[in-house]
Amino acid sequence: MCGIIGIVGREPVADRLVDGLKRMEYRGYDSAGICTLSGGQLVRRRAEGKLANLTREVAEHPAPGEVGIAHTRWATHGAPTEQNAHPHATGEVALVHNGIIENFKPLRDELLALGRKFESETDTEVVVQMLSRHIEEGKSPAEAVRTVLPRLRGAFALAIAFRQDPDMLIGARLGSPLVVGYGEGETYLGSDALALAPLTQDISYLEEGDWVIITREGATIFDVDGNEVERAVTKSGASAAAIEKGNYRHFMQKEIFEQPTVVAQTLRSYVRQLERTVALPQIDFDITSINRVTIVACGTSFYAGMVAKYWFEMFARVPVDIDVASEFRYRDPVLEPGGLALFISQSGETADTLAALRHCKEAGQTIAVVVNVPTSSMAREADLLLPTHAGPEIGVASTKAFTCQLAVLAALAAHFAVKKGRLSKDEERAIVDHLLEAPACLNAALDHDDDIAQMAHLIAPARDVLYLGRGPDYPLAMEGALKLKEISYIHAEGYASGEMKHGPIALIDDHVPVVVLAPSGPLFEKTVSNMQEVRARGGKIVLISDAEGIAEAGEGCMATIEMPKVHPLIAPLVYAVPVQLLAYHVACAKGTDVDQPRNLAKSVTVE
Ligand code: F6R
Repeated sequence: MCGIIGIVGREPVADRLVDGLKRMEYRGYDSAGICTLSGGQLVRRRAEGKLANLTREVAEHPAPGEVGIAHTRWATHGAPTEQNAHPHATGEVALVHNGIIENFKPLRDELLALGRKFESETDTEVVVQMLSRHIEEGKSPAEAVRTVLPRLRGAFALAIAFRQDPDMLIGARLGSPLVVGYGEGETYLGSDALALAPLTQDISYLEEGDWVIITREGATIFDVDGNEVERAVTKSGASAAAIEKGNYRHFMQKEIFEQPTVVAQTLRSYVRQLERTVALPQIDFDITSINRVTIVACGTSFYAGMVAKYWFEMFARVPVDIDVASEFRYRDPVLEPGGLALFISQSGETADTLAALRHCKEAGQTIAVVVNVPTSSMAREADLLLPTHAGPEIGVASTKAFTCQLAVLAALAAHFAVKKGRLSKDEERAIVDHLLEAPACLNAALDHDDDIAQMAHLIAPARDVLYLGRGPDYPLAMEGALKLKEISYIHAEGYASGEMKHGPIALIDDHVPVVVLAPSGPLFEKTVSNMQEVRARGGKIVLISDAEGIAEAGEGCMATIEMPKVHPLIAPLVYAVPVQLLAYHVACAKGTDVDQPRNLAKSVTVE
């Protein structure tokens, strides 16, 4: 949700700033801008819309200088116009911001009363105006920052340039991520290590409340109380190559096809192949004493959590509560001693999930996180870090992170069950064997890409689409609907198939395709009965099942998508593939922007 970068360099920075924004465009693409320091002036270039517009603007009106800041925006306050694009600037100060200044209204009123003039509708501009005021009064940049930061409420990562001090930048973070990168005679700021990947691998992660002065010589970091502090320098391991599309048309397509590899990669950390046992990272607490699991996440990660609820309850017989983070944090949940709070997130930075994590920590819960960015805030605040090894996910719609989350959650549920004495050695081996079959089954599911592409035209004209599933396929139905709506802009809903006749069946007519997820297995007959109820009312069915299921129930369907026959444990991983591909091909058929769908951003770092 907005990406920021800053460079104090030895060579011109404009192109490198724009290049850095390219690697962060997934964080927001409503507008983009840069500001460099040159000839004693702040030189600002901004453009509405995608980064390509800013690239053109900078080519036509170069921004010289070896020090600069840049921003790609996901709009919160103020429309996505050039006027509201970052950097925001006065003659003295230019600033980029990721987050929200929640108390911007009283601050703005105070500044207006002092006669200061605003040129945007953003919350961010109050920070620029406050800093400028202190600079004009004669304070140094560091003094101005030190005075202003404690007055800001909300979440921010800031990179700030000062006209009077052209050889340094100041960064600050609270609630939004910010890293410092160390180069050869250059120093950088970035929203994440990926943004800085081609510039440096040497990274310090700022902690909550930290602020930093960067110069060519390095960085001086201060904590929230203004004390100078050291923050460890680590090798980021981020690779710029990981964010190339290769031969694929879209990042989303590439990421869907990476799933067999990244799920196998993830499983390697969670199962011992030879012993056929689950193997988790070192756990520093007594897992057998956990008497309740509370799962909190958002969006696709939440649906992974819903699938996990079935596994935890089935294998370990532990009660599981699950909630979306934005509801959880404000509903005063009951959190009793002995509870494990489990957070699932691709980015590890989703603001609501992070706030819920901190709430649970304060309430004495043991904190476990399943996260794809191992250096993220959630990863750093967890008692038990369970990384997914999906690699950078750039397509805004989550795909490979989801299946890797499922792989980790299945192993965690099995581990829990083993420790609680609920699984015999043989049962554990059987679970491990099934999990290890997943990569090959994902490959077999991907073999049906062409068939799905062929039938996408049946869905593309629809205004509404329903997805039905039962048991662990119910969250999959919701995930399928989410994928379709976010990238093709077709309204879609996922329902528990047995719930259809309690209302949604009224929607059925021959204009509403109904996608039914029904792997053959214990719940097949029940789901198929619900499917027949839809068909009897003229509904057009797309049945996703294996050969056996299609032979039994495929007749009369508008289309069928054949999946390999898989064990019910791994069905949610395998059936993720056809719903992802269906959404992908429908979006391609409609010509929408698959990797950067409208109004969305990858990393939701505001509430
Ligand atoms: C959907 C999607 C979102 C994310 C959600 C949570 O395709 O990508 O729904 O799943 O914003 O993000 P993370 O997992 O980063 O916490």
